[in-house]
Amino acid sequence: MRGPHSGITLNSARRLLTRDFEAAGIETAALDARILVGHCTGLSAAQMIAAGTDVLTPAQFDAVTAAAKRRADGEPVDLILGYRSFWKDRFAISQDVLSPRPETEGIIEQAITLIPPAQNQGIKILELGVGSGALILSLLREYETAVATGVDISSAALEVASGNAQALGLSCDFVCSDWFENIEGRYDLIVSNPPYITDAEMMELSDEVALHDPHLALHGGVDGLDPYRTIAAQAGAYLNMGGHLILEIGYQQGADVNAILKAAGFGAVNIHKDLSGHDRIVTAAL
Ligand SMILES: C[S@@+](CC[C@H](N)C(=O)[O-])C[C@H]1O[C@@H](n2cnc3c(N)ncnc32)[C@H](O)[C@@H]1O
Repeated sequence: MRGPHSGITLNSARRLLTRDFEAAGIETAALDARILVGHCTGLSAAQMIAAGTDVLTPAQFDAVTAAAKRRADGEPVDLILGYRSFWKDRFAISQDVLSPRPETEGIIEQAITLIPPAQNQGIKILELGVGSGALILSLLREYETAVATGVDISSAALEVASGNAQALGLSCDFVCSDWFENIEGRYDLIVSNPPYITDAEMMELSDEVALHDPHLALHGGVDGLDPYRTIAAQAGAYLNMGGHLILEIGYQQGADVNAILKAAGFGAVNIHKDLSGHDRIVTAAL
């Protein structure tokens, strides 16, 4: 969308953005146009239909124009909005954190199955690699009396996670650490969605991911399994008797992570599929 504000309606703005995004090769052009016009005007999808022939104010026009340029230049919609919805809440995100993905909600589903919140008061939870904090804070929403610790090696990510905790009124101890390095004590639940992309996959990432998701959140070493080796080797020393380890994995990593966990002494290793039918979440206990 170019040029000065010229009495453009909401419907026209959506059409122009869709056309620009299609020209930029964006597959979700119409959806992205709807989300961004809604964001810049403060209107829901339903309100936008009712107000389709309303003319954008100059401020709305400028906001839509700026957002459209960022999207057409390849920036993900979540980053332009500055937030992502996950589980029950909305989390602020930035260039310093991975935008939380819906597959990761599978960790919460497995946790509440293995450790029903109503019968497990005051449990201790540790997350390794919190990023935005979406996972550990969503677990805190389920386990209201839990004591939670969230680790990340990125202090910039920890700032985002702390801000999200504050915004949600949740209390979590955030620690800058290389996995378990600065962690003490034992936990009933240890969770992680570590970086798990291989060297070869890193070469094939879309620009949208490669340029906008932090490298630290993506690359898991040559075969993508380095973080699982470290976590499996050390987690036993940090788990309470009867505790559980729950990990997200890449969809081709089930057999390897199963073998890594068993070699590290874990039993009850189970692999759970995501909604697309791919191996995605591993649960294990000592
Ligand atoms: C795939 S992201 C997951 C973020 C968030 N938990 C989620 O699921 O959306 C992995 C996170 O692990 C962190 N990380 C990478 N290497 C680490 C290390 N050695 N120790 C601690 N955290 C690390 C990254 O900074 C990143 O925030």
